[in-house]
Amino acid sequence: MRTQVGIVGSGPAGLLLSQLLHLQGIEAVILERRSRHYVEGRIRAGVLEQGTVDVLSEAGVGERMRCEGLVHEGIQLSVHGRLHRVDFKALVGGAVTVYGQTEVTKDLINARLAADGQIAFEAEDVTIHGFDGDQPRIRFRQDGRRRELACDFIAGCDGFHGVCRQSVPQAALTIHERVYPFAWLGMLVEAPPVSDELIYAYHERGFALFSMRSPARSRLYIQCTPDEDLDAWPDQRIWDELRARLGGETADALPTGPSIEKSFAPMRSFVAEPMRFGRLFLAGDAAHIVPPTGAKGLNLAVADVRVLARGLAAFYTSGRTDLLESYSATCLRRVWKAQRFSWWMTSMLHRFPGRNPYDDRVQLAELDYLVSSRAAQQALAENYVGLPFEAEE
Ligand code: FAD
Ligand code: PHB
Repeated sequence: MRTQVGIVGSGPAGLLLSQLLHLQGIEAVILERRSRHYVEGRIRAGVLEQGTVDVLSEAGVGERMRCEGLVHEGIQLSVHGRLHRVDFKALVGGAVTVYGQTEVTKDLINARLAADGQIAFEAEDVTIHGFDGDQPRIRFRQDGRRRELACDFIAGCDGFHGVCRQSVPQAALTIHERVYPFAWLGMLVEAPPVSDELIYAYHERGFALFSMRSPARSRLYIQCTPDEDLDAWPDQRIWDELRARLGGETADALPTGPSIEKSFAPMRSFVAEPMRFGRLFLAGDAAHIVPPTGAKGLNLAVADVRVLARGLAAFYTSGRTDLLESYSATCLRRVWKAQRFSWWMTSMLHRFPGRNPYDDRVQLAELDYLVSSRAAQQALAENYVGLPFEAEE
């Protein structure tokens, strides 16, 4: 088997890359460990930056997103039960679109398969070889048979726990990491949103986030300890905790309904540098992780593959290698700004158990400054809606 670009992983990064390459007439094959059903059902991100919406539209997968996505021109910050609106439109003239990662994934898989794109689901024991030379190969097992895919380049789009980053010699990568002393418990519910906009809540009991997927479905998150047991969190306990943390009128007005899914998300900041090793390019969560408080993970994955697709297109159309050579540096400038923003949002909104009380007082001052300063809100808004791509290249 042979292709031009071998892609490991069919998350948003791998799928979008193969779609962008297809539009440039470049052939790619995706190898995915899980089943299609599993990949389409994995509930994760919900907020798309305007730049992400634009890339998806240009890639020809924007139709349903434009119909069903909810355009939000601001967010609400709840501090001790009092709401403060951050008005993106007034502050920076921007907005975000609330559209689930599950839906982005389904749209991309449908588009790829409709164009006869090759996605090998349930590809087992994927290993990558020869990427430090000019004959990269990907070996895997499918339906019990061993197979090999020869390619010009490998795109490691296989998420944080994938095989690609781990295949790079340790000495060639620098790892930067911070693990937070808390996790998020998420619950998707069949209940209409209590608010037109997302509510990020700071409270002594811990952080809470009220989000949504549609006019009939809400997505709730609460800060919890990292080693919790899901059985200890029946729906009623989550609703009670959410109500306590949102407080005020929001708590009183909160519509409830049956849960559809519940899961924990650990909180981590992580960057592996550089993002390129020979003919292997890491993209998305395979190279970097942010805590979800800034809603940046999926958006960063999209930004990476946009840069990679351009580099590969330049290589195949005119033999240029400069864009591939600058891939890592170009991506990392955006990645580190998203790291900073996600770390800042996380540090400002969560409770840090057992910390020096001085730090807690500074955190309250940070929140107080934010809700009372237009300049501070403008900085939040500029980062939340997404920094421009142009400034990155
Ligand atoms: P992934 O989606 O992880 O895809 C990797 C793929 O590779 C998977 O399909 C996996 O099965 C496959 N794979 C792994 N190992 C192998 C292997 N060895 N062989 C073959 N295939 C393999 N981001 C936002 O932008 N906005 C948000 O609002 C947001 N909210 C979030 C909320 C939560 C609770 C969580 C957990 C994340 C959130 N994120 C958010 C982050 C976002 O979901 C990720 O950043 C995004 O999924 C990254 O996409 P990816 O394609 O790089 O990786
Ligand atoms: C979500 O809706 O899943 C979501 C929204 C905003 C975040 C994180 C997750 O910051």
